Amino acid sequence: MLDLSAARPDILILVGTQTGNSEIVADAIGDRLGDLGFAVHLLDMAEAYPELLEDHDQIVAVTCTWSDGTFPDNAVDFIDALESIRPALEGARFGVCGLGDRDYDPYYQTAAINLVDLLTSCGALEAAPLHGIDGGPTPADIEGAVEWAVALANAFATS
Ligand SMILES: Cc1cc2nc3c(=O)[nH]c(=O)nc-3n(C[C@H](O)[C@H](O)[C@H](O)COP(=O)(O)O)c2cc1C
Repeated sequence: MLDLSAARPDILILVGTQTGNSEIVADAIGDRLGDLGFAVHLLDMAEAYPELLEDHDQIVAVTCTWSDGTFPDNAVDFIDALESIRPALEGARFGVCGLGDRDYDPYYQTAAINLVDLLTSCGALEAAPLHGIDGGPTPADIEGAVEWAVALANAFATS
C-alpha cells in the first residue's frame, strides 16, 4: 500500500522532446501523479530556466536523446543555462525517464544520462535510477514509465 502523505504536494515534470514521444510519456506520468493527489506542473524544457528548479524539490524529467547523443532542440538552451549557472539544488530529489534507441549505440540514452549527472552535480539527489525506454514507446512502455514514476513518488515520500 502506497503512503505518499510524507511527500510534498508539488511535482515539476520537465519535457525534452524532438518528435513528441517524450511528451506522450510525460503526459501519462502527469495524469497518474495527479490522480495520486500531487499538484503536477508539466513544463516544456523550452520554457524552463535554471532558477525555476530552485523552487521545486520534486522533479521528474522526461527527455529523449537526439542525433549522436545530443539533447532535443527544445532542451538545448535550458541545458546550456544549467551547465553555466549551476543552480544550488541541495534538498531536491529527481528522477529521469529517457527515451532512446539502442540502434544509436554508443549514444543510447546519452542525453538522459548527462541530465542525471548534471542535476546530481548541482546537488540534487537521484531518488530512483534512470528509467530507459528503447524505441518508440508502446502502451506497455508507457505503463512501465508510469509505474516507475509512482515508485519515484514513493521515494520522494520516504527519502
Ligand atoms: C534522427 C534521430 C536521431 C536519434 N539519435 C538517438 C541517439 O543518439 N541516442 C538514442 O538513444 N536515441 C536516438 N534516437 C531515438 C529517439 O530518442 C527516439 O526515437 C525517441 O522516442 C524520440 O523521442 P521524442 O519523440 O520525444 O523526440 C534518435 C532518433 C532519430 C530519428
